[in-house]
Amino acid sequence: MRSLIDIQELSTEEIDELIATAKDIIANPVKYREKCRGKKLATLFYEPSTRTRLSFEAAMYELGGNVLGFASSDNSSASKGESVADTVRVVSGYADIIAMRHPKEGAPLVASMHSLVPVINAGDGGHNHPTQTLADLLTINREKGRFSDLTIGMCGDLKFGRTVHSLIGAMSRYDNVKFVLISPDELKLPGYIKQETLDRKNIEYTETRSLEEAIPSLDILYMTRVQKERFFNEDDYIRLKDTYILNEAKLLKAKKDLSILHPLPRVNEISVEIDKDPRACYFEQTLNGKYMRMALILKLLGVE
Ligand code: CP
Repeated sequence: MRSLIDIQELSTEEIDELIATAKDIIANPVKYREKCRGKKLATLFYEPSTRTRLSFEAAMYELGGNVLGFASSDNSSASKGESVADTVRVVSGYADIIAMRHPKEGAPLVASMHSLVPVINAGDGGHNHPTQTLADLLTINREKGRFSDLTIGMCGDLKFGRTVHSLIGAMSRYDNVKFVLISPDELKLPGYIKQETLDRKNIEYTETRSLEEAIPSLDILYMTRVQKERFFNEDDYIRLKDTYILNEAKLLKAKKDLSILHPLPRVNEISVEIDKDPRACYFEQTLNGKYMRMALILKLLGVE
């Protein structure tokens, strides 16, 4: 039995295999309609979500399976003080696979240690979000046709942005990938990711506060939201929340084939006028998330 807690647990070959399956699902959806007949997915979400929870649920329904779970810790016995370990031990008797989101880093890992069925990390605090990364990878693959020879700008909250942390981990395995880390000083990428991933693998990266200066060199721009829920001090959030707003004027100096990604939800960081720009990929990215979650469910359940 295998869980997915961190994107680094997947080999490059396995990522390729998941992408191939997702593309086959896109091309031949009918073939997959009964693959999970009789199987149940439990979605245990202790933190708000729209895309991740609903795309997991849509994924399981489109595979012919069923879904149970809760969308908020207030609606579960966590509100009475039940531990993650006990909840998962119980739910793994009701479901064949579990997707868990939790505000505490490491909670899905703890869950996987007490579960009788595979556990998928659907986002843990400011740590990791591996299935968002699978959505990002399919989007990059479909947009660029490659993972190597790319300059990727990561912009916004690089400190708490779990999607950023997971995507850097995944993309660092490919040849000639460079990162431009664009953030205010207060929201820079954590040192442990620079040391353990970028420095250890000799990945070229630069840090800047200026989106305008960075944008001309980028093949991919990964925008992120400044996350109110991760701040201890509301004044800091208010000061930093609108640091970066991507608009038409800023895109004037960008490459014609730039791909703009964002895990969503967005607040102000991408102006809605950009949505009609052919370089905007973020809504396709949400659909790609559903297909990659379908592929992952099949893999972890061992369905051919
Ligand atoms: N990208 C993402 O995780 O979105 P949700 O918070 O809506 O699930």
